[in-house]
This record gives sequence, structure tokens and C-alpha cells, in this order.
Amino acid sequence: MQLTVFNGSPRGKGSNTKVLVDQFLDGFMKGNGNSYKIVYLNTTKDSDYLIKMFEEAEKFLLAFPLYVDSMPAIVKTFIESLESLCGRKENPDIGFLVQSGLPESIHSRYVERYLKKLSASLGCNYMGTIIKGGVEGAQAKPVWMNKKLFNSFYQLGKTFGETGKFDEEIVDRLAQPERYSKIHPLSYLS
Ligand SMILES: Cc1cc2nc3c(=O)[nH]c(=O)nc-3n(C[C@H](O)[C@H](O)[C@H](O)COP(=O)(O)O)c2cc1C
Repeated sequence: MQLTVFNGSPRGKGSNTKVLVDQFLDGFMKGNGNSYKIVYLNTTKDSDYLIKMFEEAEKFLLAFPLYVDSMPAIVKTFIESLESLCGRKENPDIGFLVQSGLPESIHSRYVERYLKKLSASLGCNYMGTIIKGGVEGAQAKPVWMNKKLFNSFYQLGKTFGETGKFDEEIVDRLAQPERYSKIHPLSYLS
């Protein structure tokens, strides 16, 4: 299986997005014959190159941080550059990773709806959206504090590398908490 990943964080190689994607790819590469290509959207403005990468992809993962309840401008610019490919028969299967600072996944559900509609407009098979909140600071934490998180992304990548699908149980688990109860000390954030 061949996977093309676009990292849409303006922090590029210094991003939390990279840290999670790296774990996913480590697991993915355990599968026989699997290979991947990765592009950092913050390092290229060459839209012809990006479109070509998308056109040639078999499976495509667009990973980015939640910015202002939506997406970084570099991600939106890339998405808009795909307009001419809407409905193209050979478009890749597409999936997304949205990770955020706030811990509740409800903040990412609106952009998830958009991503699902986007996949339909492109005529891509929609593989799903992985949502993970509470990721800010992940890079600054000691290894043991990220162990569970990293293991989930590794396992997600591994099953994806075997089946071509996101494991729904892991996706559901990563998305917890969906929303804090009204009495939770952090509930004022939503
Ligand atoms: C300009 C900006 C806007 C952000 N907006 C949100 C937001 O609306 N909701 C949220 O939960 N986190 C928000 N965040 C936090 C990021 O999603 C979070 O820190 C993420 O882990 C950064 O990932 P990265 O290192 O891959 O860029 C924002 C961060 C920045 C810099």
C-alpha cells in the first residue's frame, strides 16, 4: 500500500502534527510492501507539485492542527487548489487527522463535517477523520507521559497498514472526551 501524507501545520517539522504522524507511520511501515511519501505544506507554495502528489496518491492523509475552530490557511489554500480534480475517477482514498489544543473533540466536529463534504465533492472514498484533542505541549512532555498517546497512533497506523482502514475503536477512544460535563473545571472553555 502506498500512502501520501500532507502535514498542514505551519510549524512543519517542529509540529505536534509531525509527532503524531511519525507514530502512525512507524506502525504503517510494519505492513509488508508499504511505503509512504510526506510533504510539509509550510515548505512549498508550488501548487502544481502538490496537485501532482495528490493525483498520484493511492491513499491520502491530510493531517493538521485545529486553528480557530477550522484549519491553517496553508491547508485551505491546498484544498482550494484541488478544485479542478472534483469528481475525477482516479482520486485517492482520503482520510484526515485533526489535532487540537483544547481537549474536547467537539471543537473539531465542525471541520470534520466540512472534510466529509469535501471528500464527497472530490469524489474520493472517505476513510474517516481521526480527532485528537489536548495535544498542545505533547512535544515538551517526557516520553512516559506520551506513551499511551503514541501507542494509540502506532496501533492506528499498523492496522491501517494492514487493512487500509482506520480502526474505529481506536478512533473513538482518541476522541475522548467528546465534551466535559458542566461541572468539570475545564468546561468553561467550551
Ligand atoms: C493561531 C492558532 C489558532 C488555534 N486555534 C485553536 C482552536 O480553535 N481550538 C483548539 O483547540 N486549539 C487551537 N490552537 C491550538 C493548536 O491546535 C494546538 O496547539 C496544536 O497541537 C498545534 O499543532 P501543531 O504543532 O501541529 O501546529 C490554535 C493554535 C494557534 C497557533
